[in-house]
Amino acid sequence: MCPVATHEGHPWLVTRYADVRAALADPRFSADLRRDGYPVLAPGQREAVASMPPTMAGMDAPEHTVIRRRIQEEFGTRRVRAMEPDIQRIVDAAFDAIENARGGPVDLVKALALPVPSAVICMLLGIPYADHDWFNDRTTAAFRRETSAADRVGVFTELMSYLDRLVRDKEADPPDDLLGRQIRLLREAGEYDHDELVSLANLLLIAGHETTAGMITVSVARLLTDDELRHELARDPARIPEAIEEFLRYFTIAQQALLRVANEDVVVGGVTIRKGEGVVLSVQAANRDPRAFSEPDELRIGQGRGHLAFGHGAHQCVGAKLARTELRIVLETLLRRRPDFRPAAPIEHLSCKESINVCGLEELPVVW
Ligand code: HEM
Repeated sequence: MCPVATHEGHPWLVTRYADVRAALADPRFSADLRRDGYPVLAPGQREAVASMPPTMAGMDAPEHTVIRRRIQEEFGTRRVRAMEPDIQRIVDAAFDAIENARGGPVDLVKALALPVPSAVICMLLGIPYADHDWFNDRTTAAFRRETSAADRVGVFTELMSYLDRLVRDKEADPPDDLLGRQIRLLREAGEYDHDELVSLANLLLIAGHETTAGMITVSVARLLTDDELRHELARDPARIPEAIEEFLRYFTIAQQALLRVANEDVVVGGVTIRKGEGVVLSVQAANRDPRAFSEPDELRIGQGRGHLAFGHGAHQCVGAKLARTELRIVLETLLRRRPDFRPAAPIEHLSCKESINVCGLEELPVVW
């Protein structure tokens, strides 16, 4: 652990698995990015954050606990299981469209990895089918490297006003979808706040699209280039969930380290972090820590358990079950329907995406 120079100050960089995990579980660290000392990694980040409505991702207990509890059930085992047939339909429709290309090449980023999580979020938020393409284009553009900062702000403004209208429409007669159920629940409790719900919809959209798309891309790329792994999982699809845990650990695609600031003095890994000092918690490094994983730089089914790719503690990814289910259905369908996909170009020639949050591939062309 050591201090690192960032755009604004010298927060502590924490890399050991045990230390990152302990810090994420420690309520003496705050996730409130408006607090002094919260690490700022890039110029303009503080201003950009201040201009967005606060979301639960940047709140601490007790506010965070209240909001998180309200939506936890929406992402619990029962609801996610109920969504499975619809997710399978979405994935099958993507494969149907791909197969129309009769042998390819088809870019699986555009044809599978991006549209599947986008359609799932549309379903979750109750976005009308007719708006799916508009919505998918915007969410994709929002995270692309070639989108300029000004255009990105423009896209977010468009999305926010879309979500604002969407929530307003649902207020008249709340339907049986996540937003409709939240409106009913909060009205009954006398706690309904329109802006807060728009902000939650926006958070779910941002947190759930690019991340899941990135994981689909890198997991599929690995399967297509690792014959042994592909044959093993095709022979025994029951091992796919275990393989997904290892993909999550090995790739740890959420690129930006998790950031916190100490609310009081805290000892982490034998070092005292003073009140007001920031910490940069590198889940990427933690997930490759040889003290926690016996062969950290190898992809070995079975060793992923306990990884921190979804974070840990109070802010651990609320959409983890949904993301795992999407990934599982995509990989099962791929192995069942198109085990003959082959990369159309050597994988090392494909360019890596430098999105603002998530690493992955720009494109993944396949033929069959
Ligand atoms: C939080 C990763 C998919 C919604 C997080 C965090 C990580 C993460 C690392 C913790 C952030 C922190 O502690 O500061 C991922 C990855 C995904 C994924 C790798 C895909 C493979 C999703 C999906 C949704 C979602 C599908 C919902 C549609 C959220 C939300 C939070 C969160 C709302 C904030 C939770 C809180 O502050 O209590 N995610 N995520 N994520 N994620 Fe995910």
